Amino acid sequence: MRPEMLKKYAAPVPRYTSYPTAPHFSPKVDAATYAEWLRATSADTPLSLYAHVPFCKEMCWYCGCSTKVTQRHEPIARYLNALEKEIATVSRHLPHANRVGHVHWGGGSPSILEADDILRLAAALKSHFNFAPDAEFAVEIDPRGLDEERIAAFAKAGVNRVSIGVQDFDEAVQVAINRMQSFEQTEFVVRTFRAHGVRSINIDLVYGLPHQTRSTLEQTLQRVLTLAPDRIALFGYAHLPARITHQRLIDEAALPDMTERFAQANRATNRLTQAGYVTVGLDHFALPDDTLATGKVHRNFQGYTTDKAAALIGFGASSIGRLPQGYVQNATPVADYERRVENGGLATVRGHAMSTDDSVRGLVIERLMCDFRFPTEELRERFGADAESVIEEAHMLASSENDDLVEPEGEGFRVTEKGRLFIRSICSVFDSYFGQGTATHSSGV
Ligand SMILES: C[S@@+](CC[C@H](N)C(=O)[O-])C[C@H]1O[C@@H](n2cnc3c(N)ncnc32)[C@H](O)[C@@H]1O
Ligand code: SF4
Repeated sequence: MRPEMLKKYAAPVPRYTSYPTAPHFSPKVDAATYAEWLRATSADTPLSLYAHVPFCKEMCWYCGCSTKVTQRHEPIARYLNALEKEIATVSRHLPHANRVGHVHWGGGSPSILEADDILRLAAALKSHFNFAPDAEFAVEIDPRGLDEERIAAFAKAGVNRVSIGVQDFDEAVQVAINRMQSFEQTEFVVRTFRAHGVRSINIDLVYGLPHQTRSTLEQTLQRVLTLAPDRIALFGYAHLPARITHQRLIDEAALPDMTERFAQANRATNRLTQAGYVTVGLDHFALPDDTLATGKVHRNFQGYTTDKAAALIGFGASSIGRLPQGYVQNATPVADYERRVENGGLATVRGHAMSTDDSVRGLVIERLMCDFRFPTEELRERFGADAESVIEEAHMLASSENDDLVEPEGEGFRVTEKGRLFIRSICSVFDSYFGQGTATHSSGV
């Protein structure tokens, strides 16, 4: 890859876990709008549930998640009270006992919860929602300090998929990111979840971290492969110190440059595909018989998923929900979220009502991020004449000078091997909001 090309296409772009992306949400969508949208949910709409746990024991300096540090249990107990209240309030607004197919707890670190908390939160969700017998129940886990009692509680609560944060096993990298995590502790957590019947294991890794090189990354991959995870997510480090103040603790001089980042992503992809993993979208890998490799893939706030539910209900501070009408987001500061919920209300502070054009472009961006193909037929099927102007845009892109990032396919295009790494930049061509406002994004590679 020529350096000038890297420079040209690695300009900061969104990660497209939604369209429009969260910085374009507005306060025009509020708790009253959300209540109305919930009331309009039809009985046959499958639901997904997301619960956010915005607490960690320590701050990893690279972290871009919505979380805060606490060493005490008291703020967590208070937050759980609010979560229970919000779950009850939201369920009261829903007119039907819709089937729940997917549940996800993210953070922060849901693994900071005590065994009793885990069972209590799961019971609150189950008592207000109608879980399908085969519902997928996934939880994000920080393995540091996690003991068997809490692992057993997750299994007892019905968790059947865990996503374990590793990032990198190299000691110099771990020091530079303030995340000391031994291979042995990680292995213990993987083994213990499996022993308790939780078969599906994902491991999160990050490239582009300070002091990381292709060879340290390769050593990390070697060790990760001995754990035989079903899925691996390999994220490019998003460095946004202007917005995320603790990232200023990262020594920028130790960060790999664009060419090295690109080479790390390539090396890791080759290593993982050689080891038998199938590439899924931009940054996920799965064993060939995993549902992420065999089924239709979608993209939501948790990244790549097989979840196709049209309604995602988000609980907790900062969490984002999606209903057929649009997106809703809860207040981010924990105290603000708790106050809104304790007063018996919904905690929605912003969101976005989807126009037809948003839905058309949202589908284009989701399919490009997942399949690397412009979805001409699906667009026509779902949107008819409303899709024609975007199909024309795709046609123009495919027939213009595009450095061989895309090639014509029917009336649309497919993304070339070379274009895959720049998929977010290709998506940004179809993003009507891109460049508006003050949103900050990370590098496109
Ligand atoms: C909520 S954490 C996962 C669970 C748990 N808190 C942990 O860290 O082990 C979500 C994941 O996002 C990724 N991540 C966090 N900050 C990031 C950043 N600035 N750039 C890229 N990936 C990041 C990490 O791989 C992390 O495991
Ligand atoms: S990466 Fe995970 S453990 Fe580290 S601060 Fe972020 S959410 Fe917490």
